[in-house]
This record gives sequence, structure tokens and C-alpha cells, in this order.
Amino acid sequence: MKELDIDFVRKQFPVFNTDLGRKVGFLDNAGGSYVAGAVIDRLTDFYTNYKVQPYGANPISNRAGVAMDEGRSTMVALLNVPSDLLTLGASSTQNFNTLTIACTPLVKRGTEVIVSEQDHESNIGGWERLCQRQGATLKFWKVDPKTGELDLNDLEALLTPQTVILCVTQSSNIIGTLNPINDIAALARRTNTRVVVDGVSYAPHYWPNLDELDVDAYVFSTYKTYGTHQGVMVVREDFLEELEPQSHFFNVPYKNKRLDAAGPDHAAIAALAGLGDYFSTVYEHHFGAEAVPLHVKARKVADLMHQHEMKLCHYLLDHLRELPVRIFGRPTTEQREANIVFTSSTVSSKALADGLAQYDVAAKNGHFYAYRLLEAMGVEDLNDGVVRISLSHYNTREEVERCVVGLRELLSN
Ligand SMILES: Cc1ncc(COP(=O)(O)O)c(C=O)c1O
Repeated sequence: MKELDIDFVRKQFPVFNTDLGRKVGFLDNAGGSYVAGAVIDRLTDFYTNYKVQPYGANPISNRAGVAMDEGRSTMVALLNVPSDLLTLGASSTQNFNTLTIACTPLVKRGTEVIVSEQDHESNIGGWERLCQRQGATLKFWKVDPKTGELDLNDLEALLTPQTVILCVTQSSNIIGTLNPINDIAALARRTNTRVVVDGVSYAPHYWPNLDELDVDAYVFSTYKTYGTHQGVMVVREDFLEELEPQSHFFNVPYKNKRLDAAGPDHAAIAALAGLGDYFSTVYEHHFGAEAVPLHVKARKVADLMHQHEMKLCHYLLDHLRELPVRIFGRPTTEQREANIVFTSSTVSSKALADGLAQYDVAAKNGHFYAYRLLEAMGVEDLNDGVVRISLSHYNTREEVERCVVGLRELLSN
């Protein structure tokens, strides 16, 4: 079995050429990852050479348009989805908000929307506001307060013929457990309920495989997957056709623009082409230069990334289990991604996160906008919240070891 060549990978990220980048063990990746050099190159090229209104006949404007098209077509290829169905927005929160408003014709008085308590607020708040405006019912799929996990039996009991939309995360940015999206969707299909999935926390660790997911809308953020600050939303065609377009009226005929208010960040879109470069470079280094589709490369590379992260995650959890902390989510690597969250009953989460900085480890504390999940799990001070260590494929064993040493000392004081 191949292993990720971590030295090669780190060479693809310019931050590791800086003193601070080498010094700090960056374990706050769920907040936003480092950016691959290939993406930065594309961004610099855009800003340096053709940062003008795109799609004009003059060669500078024309190049800007070509670069934007390349960014978009790269995302289409990386996800293996029809270009018409891909919306690029400023963030996932913005894409979710747009989607909720676009769902107005479906969410009427007498209908129901289900959201999960496990979700980030971006996949809850907009639905709550929509239900309030429309006089529809919002139902919460509650978590087990001890584990934070969702039970399919509870969902089955919530779904009714009136349920029009179900919103759920593929994996939580707190507990990190992977949810069985297709099993969830199979239940929702029985009541003809649309399924909206938040892939933000999942995508950096696994890369989305939309060929295998039975979902109506899927959302994630490229600033967490080594790219520029963009939100990606893929909406199934028959769902899109039921929605109220949120674009300028003259853009409505273009499906890919219907959920895009217009006025995008041209350079950030263009630079997404660098994500394709990154996955290709890492793929070729490990598997050779065979011509395979970009989404296949991304998935094979993501397998290596995941394997590497799980080794680090295993090490961290092994040591955390021996420390006086409450681990949120599974204490082992089973069915999990590498977000590791905990609290101590004696040291505040802020003191732990800030204390880790003295060991040159970057981590954060707080509720991470999963306010309702932490509330359900009994966290009393939501501002202090939990400590989150979130790993990426470019992290090293040494960085995680340093984190463990720091935590051991901070917790023994
Ligand atoms: C699980 C999850 N969903 C949604 C979001 C919102 O993404 P964005 O920052 O792109 O709006 C985040 C951001 O941290 C997240 O972790």
C-alpha cells in the first residue's frame, strides 16, 4: 500500500518555506487550510496580468475570462458533475442562505423542514428563518447528548409526507463522525423529501464523491481544501428546476447562474484551477503520469491523505484518552475524520488553546458555530466552548507529538 510522501506534499505549500510555517504546527485546519502553491500561482498570475472585467474582446479581458472558465471547469472535473449544476459563491454560508431563499416555493404553510442539531449553524439558521417567514414547521433531528451522534430511528420518526427538505452534515466539524448519507437519503426518499448535505467538514479529509451520494444539494468550501475562499454548491437538476432563481432575470436561462447573485470574485474562481494542478502533481508523484480523469486522481490522492491523517489521529486519540479530558465524538478512529475536540473540567478551553501556542501549536477553542450541538452535549460556557485540534494531510507526526506534550503539561499544572 502506498503512503503519502509528506516531504513532497509540504513542498507544494509555500508556507512551509517561511520561518513561521516551519515553526508552528498548524492544527487548526478545520478553520481553513493552508493554500497550495499551485493555487497561489494562479491567483498571482490573475492579479498581476489580467485583473480586469473578464470576457471582453481585448486580450487582457479575454485572458481573464479564459482563466475563470478554467477555474470553473477544474471544479467540474474534480467533482465529476455537470457544469450547469455547479454554483460558485463567496462561502458555504452564503450558498446555504441563497438555497434557503430559493426554496421558498417548496416550503409553504403545512410543510416541514428537518435540520440536524449536529450541523454548523450555516445549515440551520437559514432554514429556520425560511420556516418562520413561510409559516412552515422546523423540526430538529436531535443528537444523543453523550455522543453527539444522530440515530436513523429518530429520523424515521420525524419524517412525514409533509417533510419537504432534510438538512444534514456529512460529518460534524465538532465530533467528526461520518454520517451514512445514503442511508439517510434512503429514508428521506420514502417521503419524497429533498436532501441537502453540508460537506464542508468532510471535503478536506476525503474529497467528495458525488457519483456515489444520493443527495439533492451538496455544499463545501474550497478555502478548507487548500484553495481560495470560495463556496461550492452542486444542486441536482430536477431540484434546481423547482427553485426560485436568485439571479438577475436575464441570467435565469443559465442554470449555473440561477443560484448566483452575480458579482463573483473573479480571481478566486480562476485560481481554483490550481487545485486541479495540486491534485495532479501529487497524483503523478505517487502513481505515475497515466492519463486518468481529474476526479479519479483527486479521490486516489484523498485516500492517501486520509490514511496519513488517520495515523496522526490515532496517535493523538491514544494519548488524549490517557489525559483528564472529555473527548467529544468517538475516542477511536472508527468512522471518523481528523477533527478532535475535547474539554477539561479543570482548565478552560481558552487556556488550553492559548497555552498550546507556547508550544508552537496552533489550535482554537469556541463553539465553532456548532452552537446547538455543543448546547445539546451539555457544554455550559459556549464562548469558552471546546478545544479543537483539526489535522490536515500536510501535518507531521512531530507536530502532533508536540501538541500532546503541550496538553500533558498544561493539564498537569
Ligand atoms: C461544517 C461546516 N459547515 C459550514 C461551514 C461554513 O462555511 P463557510 O465558512 O464557507 O461559510 C463551516 C465553516 O467552518 C463548517 O465547518
